[in-house]
Amino acid sequence: MFVEIKNLQYKYKNAIEPTIKDFSLQIEKGEIVSILGESGSGKSTILRLVTGLEIPNSGSISINNRTIFDEVTFIPPEKREVGMVFQDYALFPHMTVANNIKYGLRKMSKKEKKERIDEMLSLVNLSKYRDRYPYELSGGQQQRVALARALAPAPSLLVFDEPFSNLDTYLQIRIRDELREILKQTGITSIFVTHDQEDAKVLADEIIYLENGKTIWKGAPDNLLPYTQVNRVNQINKKTF
Ligand SMILES: Nc1ncnc2c1ncn2[C@@H]1O[C@H](COP(=O)(O)OP(=O)(O)OP(=O)(O)O)[C@@H](O)[C@H]1O
Ligand SMILES: [Mg+2]
Repeated sequence: MFVEIKNLQYKYKNAIEPTIKDFSLQIEKGEIVSILGESGSGKSTILRLVTGLEIPNSGSISINNRTIFDEVTFIPPEKREVGMVFQDYALFPHMTVANNIKYGLRKMSKKEKKERIDEMLSLVNLSKYRDRYPYELSGGQQQRVALARALAPAPSLLVFDEPFSNLDTYLQIRIRDELREILKQTGITSIFVTHDQEDAKVLADEIIYLENGKTIWKGAPDNLLPYTQVNRVNQINKKTF
């Protein structure tokens, strides 16, 4: 398995209960997994644990056969090769599109950097916008720059935390189709967090439902049930994941 998350447990310091309770997930190379769940179920926390912004209390995480966390290992965020895209894009306002994308590129010659930026701009269809500043772009274009910036250093894994929540419905629908195409074109493995079932259905190869820091359902997009039903089925089956 390309990504192996095993028995993760995590409790925020000032919380009474653990937010993540025995969470496990396996992802094949090139697969897109979507995590669905209500507000507060722990979706962002899982991404924070995978990216290294928080340290799990127990469990293990490995990516591409490299352990990035277990009882004796903690690889810091910048060495994990995990790219992130968030809902507020977090572009640098004082940098052009090209320089925003360049930011994550290290250990490359000037020529290689330029080639990589060109490649990314063409991938997200923004070649004409390389010298614009973020405030000169629409929300959807900014989101595509954020995607290009995250993809540029060729991360092993890309994680998305509700990246469409600032877009209007029309743009959201267009971008999620585009995004699946781009991800499949690059063959990158990704985790996509959302509370929108349609996003998950369109984008993901596999979907999991999270409730109170635990997986309560896992399956293919075609088999996805509404949350209330998943909840009911789970109470009857008591299946563990
Ligand atoms: N820094 C923190 N300290 C204490 N508790 C926290 C902290 N951050 C989040 N939590 C709590 O952990 C739980 C899970 O939060 P998380 O942000 O992972 O939820 P989420 O599923 O991403 O929700 P949303 O859909 O609203 O983004 C919530 O109950 C939240 O209040
Ligand atoms: Mg969240």
